[in-house]
Amino acid sequence: MEEFHYEGDELYCEGVPLREIAESRGTPVYVYSHGTLERRYRELDEAFSGLDHMVCYAVKANGNLAVLRALAALGAGVDIVSAGELYRAVRAGIDPKRIVFAGVGKTEKELSLGLGERILMFNVESDSELERLDYCARRHGKTARVALRVNPAVDPESHPHIATGLAESKFGIPLDEALRLARRVREEFRHVELLGVHQHIGSQITKISPYVESVEKTAGLVRELRDSGFDIRYFNIGGGLGICYRDESPPNPRELVDALRPALESTGATILCEMGRYIAGEAGVLLTRVLYRKQSGEKTFLVADAGMNDLLRPSLYDAYHEVKPLRESTATVHADLVGPVCESGDYLARDRDLPDAAEGEVLAVMSAGAYGFAMASNYNSRPRPAEVMVRSDRWALVREREHYPDLVKGELIPAFL
Ligand code: LLP
Repeated sequence: MEEFHYEGDELYCEGVPLREIAESRGTPVYVYSHGTLERRYRELDEAFSGLDHMVCYAVKANGNLAVLRALAALGAGVDIVSAGELYRAVRAGIDPKRIVFAGVGKTEKELSLGLGERILMFNVESDSELERLDYCARRHGKTARVALRVNPAVDPESHPHIATGLAESKFGIPLDEALRLARRVREEFRHVELLGVHQHIGSQITKISPYVESVEKTAGLVRELRDSGFDIRYFNIGGGLGICYRDESPPNPRELVDALRPALESTGATILCEMGRYIAGEAGVLLTRVLYRKQSGEKTFLVADAGMNDLLRPSLYDAYHEVKPLRESTATVHADLVGPVCESGDYLARDRDLPDAAEGEVLAVMSAGAYGFAMASNYNSRPRPAEVMVRSDRWALVREREHYPDLVKGELIPAFL
């Protein structure tokens, strides 16, 4: 992670010592590097050079307005999965012509809002959704542009909870149903225009082969649809490119796209991808202060002020995030780094050699830029942390820490109490 590095013995984000941010803003706090976002976006964009393409960013990974604005300024499109994400994207200045709307359960309201913004296209996942979208478009006097999301039934060989392209998963339509659905669009749905095919097989993919296999299968469908007279102009290959949390060695975008290139070229379509983690994952760290050191029999616990409500990935997926001291040191302690939440599954790192941090010391939980704040909650009535963005030697708060009144916002005590 180039933007997060030691200078002297201090951990920096670009030109800013992380200690300065922790002291000024308190902990827990997420810190994002503009430089990493930009570098990662450009790496993807350049990997597709020679192909008509658009790099969309999956808002679900990290929807902070400043993150979206930074990517909008680079020319990114976005992949959204709710009207809430649409709201964020539009507020951040993403061009609606660069927005694609995925998700297996879009409501009528969400479809209408997407139509109202004239987004590029909806990725449609069922017959019923097509019917609903046709109805909404007719009511609004519009035509909905759609891509069919297919399920290529390929195992991404990542964590089972984040595999979406297995045959039994709820996502997409089986490949061999696509032609039937395409014909229905042509024959029955006057207010829907079919112009794309979409797939997404899963997340944190670290091997090229499942990606190639699925893209080859789906590219075959794109060619078949074109041969049957459908004007398929877009092939959206999904997101999912993995990053290195520990010792994984995922392909870089260039390697991935080069392996996919023959299949992509064979379609003659504009290629879309929708990466979230690859762009945002390594762009963020979570700073947390060690409140207490605690010895329980053989076990040592570092009790931190951030927990599963701030960063859920370790508890939910047993995910590994590296932990670094703000002041470089080789001293380690074999311990669990746990949060204050009342669940024994509340940990950030378990059974590991961790920095030998004293009480009061701040640690950086690395690679927390994707699915970090985005999955944070108020569990245990804990205000969600602040977020900061660094750009070279400047930094700014991009989301205030929540306050106690935020916790009860919208709650009402009825008169009968
Ligand atoms: N497109 C679609 C249709 C998706 O469902 C997803 C992620 C993406 C794109 C972006 O995938 P990425 O490039 O970020 O891998 N919470 C989990 C990850 C869930 C991903 C869900 N879908 C985690 O923390 O690992």
